[in-house]
Amino acid sequence: MSQQVSGSIEYAELNFPVIEIVQYATSSRRVVLCSLFVVASNRDNKNFLIIVYNRIPRNHLVTSKPLPGPQGLPLIGHVTPFIRHGILGAFDLLSKRYGPMYQVPLPFGNTAIVLAHPDGVERVLRSNRENYHKGSVYDGARLLLGEGLVTAEGRAWERQRALAQPAFNSTQLDIYLRTMTECTEDLLCEWRSLPAGKRIDLTEAATRLTLAIAGRTLFGLDLSGHSNRAGKAFRDGLRGIGSRGPGGLAVPLWLPTPVNVRFRRALVTLDQLVYDIIRRFRTCDASNAAGTLLDMLMAARDPETGRGLTDRQLRDEIVTLYLAGHETTANMLVWTFYLLSRSLDVHDRLEQELDTLPEGPPSLATLKGLEYAQMVLSEALRLYPPAWTIARNVIHDDEVCGYKIPGGSFVLLSPYITQRLEEFWPDPGRFDPQRFSAENIRGRHRFAWFPFSAGPRVCIGKQFSMLEGQLILAQVMREFRVSVDSGTLGFKAEGTLHPDRPVYIRLVKR
Ligand code: HEM
Repeated sequence: MSQQVSGSIEYAELNFPVIEIVQYATSSRRVVLCSLFVVASNRDNKNFLIIVYNRIPRNHLVTSKPLPGPQGLPLIGHVTPFIRHGILGAFDLLSKRYGPMYQVPLPFGNTAIVLAHPDGVERVLRSNRENYHKGSVYDGARLLLGEGLVTAEGRAWERQRALAQPAFNSTQLDIYLRTMTECTEDLLCEWRSLPAGKRIDLTEAATRLTLAIAGRTLFGLDLSGHSNRAGKAFRDGLRGIGSRGPGGLAVPLWLPTPVNVRFRRALVTLDQLVYDIIRRFRTCDASNAAGTLLDMLMAARDPETGRGLTDRQLRDEIVTLYLAGHETTANMLVWTFYLLSRSLDVHDRLEQELDTLPEGPPSLATLKGLEYAQMVLSEALRLYPPAWTIARNVIHDDEVCGYKIPGGSFVLLSPYITQRLEEFWPDPGRFDPQRFSAENIRGRHRFAWFPFSAGPRVCIGKQFSMLEGQLILAQVMREFRVSVDSGTLGFKAEGTLHPDRPVYIRLVKR
């Protein structure tokens, strides 16, 4: 920016009339640079350039403004909307009132900061991620998952991620595909033998299927004999976590509320199941698990001490991957079938694409070619992201879009809220997979869609679950027309975002 001005500078008894001032300011992640160039000329018309250069650390700036948000009452904060509408319902209401970034006072002096604008999401998950930790906000999850891959932090997380990553590369995914196909075929066999038009509990079937797939692919285990017990324990465990909102909203675990009682029972069941798996692996034939993630975890040695993982560390990884690996994908499938049965044009277009697949089990390459199926799943994940919130503790003061984010508070990102912001998603409630065509993705903010999170802690199972979703859609829809028979669904935001009641389907043979 430059401007012509009048005035003069006196220097060494000479007078220089100022002819132009150029101001320049730029900002980088850590500093703001301000420079002022003053161009002046003396009587002989010889030009002088005086440069004033400022380098101001960003944290010395007092420009950041406090976030908007409701006032709270002493001690209890602003809890009424949370009690009335649940956590997600309250966030949704508050977002409509205060915009995509605001703060909410919570009980005992805690503050939650909701950052739903994609710039805020980017700052927390990528560009300033060292400042946002999975600290006390994950203490509820740690009761169930211990220090597994989802909850671990720092060096421990780096080691665990490096250990698990090879189990999710494309060679492994290709191997898993065969197992995914077999598990889906088992379910289809069951469905074929049912009387025509029989009502089927889709939530139960999807959970059983994804549990079987996670068990067999990652751990070489067939849990079908325990699927009801394990599925229920995981569900109660997740609900228990979901009820323990961050920031003092949790009821102490020793209080015998119905949710707490079920949660404690779930912990006992899962511990029994998983420690039994570990014992069997250590003492008996482990050939079923050869080449699986379980095998890799068992073989891992600490580079410094040479020691393997303890039973407790193994338990935490297995429970984490089992849970993360099935419940979210089951929800994605249920929501997708629901949305498809309410949008016949999308349903028919998807069916046409799936009909182009060659006979027999689909390969990795053919599934990757199913562009419309990917768009349908992406759109279902936009409207109903199973992992509806991602929380972090704020370590030091930060600034996002000019707002102050105080250290010591915690931030909540919500794919559900961000993925329904009108600014990025016109007519946000409409189910429209076309939003994910190559040309529509281009130009959209990269952090406006993040159902799998983003940055280094992006979901390790992203490709796994998208592949699984495509394969199951392909196998089911090539054989059956699925119609959902449960009316208009609402949702419950607990550990995952799931329908507010069991979802039933009826099948018609094609
Ligand atoms: C539709 C399906 C899925 C969704 C929506 C989903 C979503 C997410 C999200 C949002 C996170 C980040 C959590 C956070 O930072 O707090 C995450 C992390 C994770 N997910 Fe998934 N996930 C899905 C499927 C899977 C599958 C199939 C697996 C394993 C087989 C898996 C394993 C994990 C693990 C281990 C992490 C922690 C990664 C790390 O921090 O390094 N997820 N997932």
